[in-house]
Amino acid sequence: MTAEPALIPQSREALFTPLTIGTMTVPNRIVMAPMTRGMSPGGVPGEDVAAYYRRRAAGHCGLVITEGVAVDHPAALGDAGLDESDVPLLAGDASLAGWRRVTEGVHEEGAKIIAQLWHQGVLRKPVFRWCLSAASLSTKRAAVASRSAPGASRPMPSAIA
Ligand SMILES: Cc1cc2nc3c(=O)[nH]c(=O)nc-3n(C[C@H](O)[C@H](O)[C@H](O)COP(=O)(O)O)c2cc1C
Repeated sequence: MTAEPALIPQSREALFTPLTIGTMTVPNRIVMAPMTRGMSPGGVPGEDVAAYYRRRAAGHCGLVITEGVAVDHPAALGDAGLDESDVPLLAGDASLAGWRRVTEGVHEEGAKIIAQLWHQGVLRKPVFRWCLSAASLSTKRAAVASRSAPGASRPMPSAIA
């Protein structure tokens, strides 16, 4: 039986060694990807959210990247109806207190946590989302013509509905 190449066990060991990124040192190289949960009614992460992130830290994620969180700016979440309901905010006393609970729990498990900032930018406007959609140019032209007609309603193109 052939011996396993030395590179593989060395790589596995590296996964469990600390890593310094700027001024932050994480206990290992296991990083949790940001995943939107929509579990923060009113933008406030509650005890359940704190428990969720804490469990990930206890499960040896050395670095947790939060779900997208919105600062108090119109371009952060916008008004385009991207189903961003119950997305947590990083603004306002109640939300900040909620995030304090989250970070304390993660830190108590020995992990680090960084916030992913949700910024829709121009995509918060339906017209910009439509421009970036996969619809063909001719479909877009036809849609512009019908949307521009006097008294026309403005349905969303099916590609992004
Ligand atoms: C339910 C769910 C929510 C997600 N929310 C976010 C998010 O808020 N921000 C983000 O950058 N990526 C988000 N993602 C993408 C994940 O971070 C990740 O990039 C994606 O699942 C691909 O990971 P994989 O290459 O390991 O399969 C989400 C993915 C899922 C499944």
